Amino acid sequence: MRLENKQAIVTGGAGGIGRASSLALAAEGARVAVVDLDGAAAERVAEEIRAAGGEAIAIAADVSSEPDIERVVRETQAAFGGIDVVFNNAGIIRRTTAVETTVEEWDRVFGVNVRSIFLMCKHVVPVMAAAGGGSIVNTGSGWGLKGGGQAISYCASKGAVVNMTRALAIDHGPQGIRVNSVNPGDVNTGMLREEARQLGQAEDGFLAEAADRPLRRMGEPREIASAVVWLASDESSYVTGSALVVDGGGIA
Ligand SMILES: NC(=O)c1ccc[n+]([C@@H]2O[C@H](COP(=O)([O-])OP(=O)(O)OC[C@H]3O[C@@H](n4cnc5c(N)ncnc54)[C@H](O)[C@@H]3O)[C@@H](O)[C@H]2O)c1
Repeated sequence: MRLENKQAIVTGGAGGIGRASSLALAAEGARVAVVDLDGAAAERVAEEIRAAGGEAIAIAADVSSEPDIERVVRETQAAFGGIDVVFNNAGIIRRTTAVETTVEEWDRVFGVNVRSIFLMCKHVVPVMAAAGGGSIVNTGSGWGLKGGGQAISYCASKGAVVNMTRALAIDHGPQGIRVNSVNPGDVNTGMLREEARQLGQAEDGFLAEAADRPLRRMGEPREIASAVVWLASDESSYVTGSALVVDGGGIA
């Protein structure tokens, strides 16, 4: 197993990519703290892990809140005795142009997608550094690298995630902490259905368009989880500051 004796935090752990990654990290031996705004859904994922013989706790938290992040770090340390891996994955999208976006919506998207990662790193880096290192993986997006239509706050926030990842890698590499982003294309999760709803489009047509890429299909959450496990594990020991694209060829 690639993550034996490792402790991991996964934010947005009850959602499509977060759940698949929580299960995949646990299957490789990691103890997992499943963190989500939806505490009951996080508890169901933790229960799934325990039913499969793994170790997991669930923590209800809003990742944009500093007191919540401090509590997540404290409770994970108390439960597992350390933190080796963090997957900063919670995210939201608003499918609007600059003209249509309110300041409140802009701030909420940046709070959940960007401030959350700054806050988690602020509180978890000292813990990792004291233990000799760790691996942080942040969820960016293809749209953080190339842009996309009718999602101005989301595209800006994911661009920030990609570059914040590089800056974190530079600052904390000397402490043995690797920081990388995983950048999915369209993945079969609730977020895509939410986008169809926000745009007022039929789900079927929206999902068919999402499959229009060289591999002729959307990604499945477990295919992002595989990349997360690799970045979390020592198999990627010389990889830091990178933006790994997992998108069926959609960006090329
Ligand atoms: N699905 C895609 O096509 C796609 C593509 C590129 C990037 N992403 C990114 O992948 C990540 C995971 O998204 P997903 O597709 O699994 O979507 P999802 O909606 O299934 O999961 C997101 C999870 O985050 C949680 N969450 C939202 N706000 C939160 C908050 N303030 N605090 C704690 N948890 C919160 C939600 O409750 C949910 O469980 C996001 O960062 C998203 O931007 C998704």
